[in-house]
Formats: sequence, structure tokens, C-alpha cells
Amino acid sequence: MLMRGIRLGKRIADRLPIFRATRRRKFGRITVELWRGAVLKRARNCTLSGDGRLDVGFRWPAYLADKTLVAVSDGGQLSVEGHFTIYTGSKVVVDQGAVLELGSGYLNSNSTISCFNSIKIGRDVMIAENVSIRDSDNHTIVNSNRPQDGAIVIGDHVWIGMNSIILKGVKIGPGAVIAAGSVVTRDVEAGTLVGGVPAKLLRSNIEWH
Ligand SMILES: CC(C)(COP(=O)(O)OP(=O)(O)OC[C@H]1O[C@@H](n2cnc3c(N)ncnc32)[C@H](O)[C@@H]1OP(=O)(O)O)[C@@H](O)C(=O)NCCC(=O)NCCS
Repeated sequence: MLMRGIRLGKRIADRLPIFRATRRRKFGRITVELWRGAVLKRARNCTLSGDGRLDVGFRWPAYLADKTLVAVSDGGQLSVEGHFTIYTGSKVVVDQGAVLELGSGYLNSNSTISCFNSIKIGRDVMIAENVSIRDSDNHTIVNSNRPQDGAIVIGDHVWIGMNSIILKGVKIGPGAVIAAGSVVTRDVEAGTLVGGVPAKLLRSNIEWH
């Protein structure tokens, strides 16, 4: 009798928003789970597409909830194909007219994706804490023939170590590993380990799990 009462109480509590760990929202076929402290800002003319699930502000029970932001500006496009988790304290910003494509995997705490043009993240991608991914310098060095912007493509099954920075125009091949604390300014071959500032090849033909 007591157990039935507890089970019934739990079922009722689950239906009351104040007791739920997340708020669930549907945008077409995408499901967005907003954890405590998470904010999803959508401009009126942005697009959310794909048929995946996006967890925003996820945290393990021992962690405190920090502010987590996903913002998509006017004309911006965010697509989610698989299950992608953005941990508490991270920030994902899609600027006006920019396109961010997420496959599956996670972006760990206090990381940032700043998408001003185009960023594509594949499937099964692990991005550690304090990582910055930014496809624009936002300023230009005078008399330089280098572009200020460049699309970033991160292939399937890539692991990006903590405190790394991925700069404009970089393509990271499938299965690659970026060592902690790297600044990646040039393309990374599939199945290689790179590291350092700027990141250089450390090992080839690697596998990781
Ligand atoms: C400094 C910066 C603008 C230069 O961009 P760029 O003119 O396209 O320069 P390149 O990428 O061609 O880099 C020139 C060389 O410096 C190296 N380099 C670039 N950034 C580096 C860094 N942070 N640390 C060490 N080396 C770096 C490159 O590997 C390259 O070396 P190489 O010729 O031996 O391959 C860019 O590297 C950068 O740091 N962008 C981020 C700017 C930023 O933080 N913007 C935020 C908004 S304010």
C-alpha cells in the first residue's frame, strides 16, 4: 500500500514542471531537452531542423547548474541529426544567416561554438571541457591575403581534448584526436593525433575509443 502511494506520488510529481529535471520542447522532428539554467533563444526567422535530440545544460548529479545558452539569430540554421548533448555552462551561438550542423556526441562544460558562417560536426564526436570552436576571426589583418572566415568541418568519431581551440577553415578528418590544449589552425588528417600550439602531427594511424 505504502509502495503504491510512493509510486503514484512520483508519477504525479513527474507531471509537475517544478519537479522535472528538464523542460521538453519539440520543433518539427527535433526534441530539445532544456535542463535547469538552460536558455534557448530563437530569432523569429531562424530554422531548426533534423530529427535528432538536443540536450541543453545537461549535468551530472554532483555538478551545479551553470547558465547554458543556445542562441540562433535571424536567418540562422541549426540542425541536429542524432543525440547531441551540450553540458552545463556551455554556449552555442549561430549568427545571422549562419549554419550549424550537429551530428551526435557531446560538447562538455564551459565550451563555446561560435558559428558565423558554417560549422559541421559529425557523428559520435566528443568535445571536452573549455573548448572553443569559432569559424571567424571577426577582424582582418591588413595586407594579409588570409580570409577572416572559413567553414569548419569536424568528421565522425573525432575526440577534441580539453582547452583546445579550433580556428576558422579547419577540417578535421574522421577518427582524429586533438590533444588537450591545442590550437588547431590547419586541417587534420583522418586517424591522426595532433597537438600543440599551433597543432602539429604527433602520431598517424591511431584508433581510439
Ligand atoms: C591571429 C589570427 C587572426 C591569424 O590568422 P591568419 O592571418 O589566417 O593566420 P594563419 O592561420 O595563416 O597563421 C599564420 C601562422 O601562425 C600560426 N598560428 C596561427 N594562430 C596561432 C596561435 N594562436 N598560436 C600559435 N600559432 C598560430 C599558424 O599555424 C600559421 O603558421 P604556419 O604558417 O607555420 O602554418 C588567427 O590565428 C587567430 O588567432 N584567430 C582568432 C582571433 C580571435 O580570437 N577572434 C575572436 C574575436 S575578437
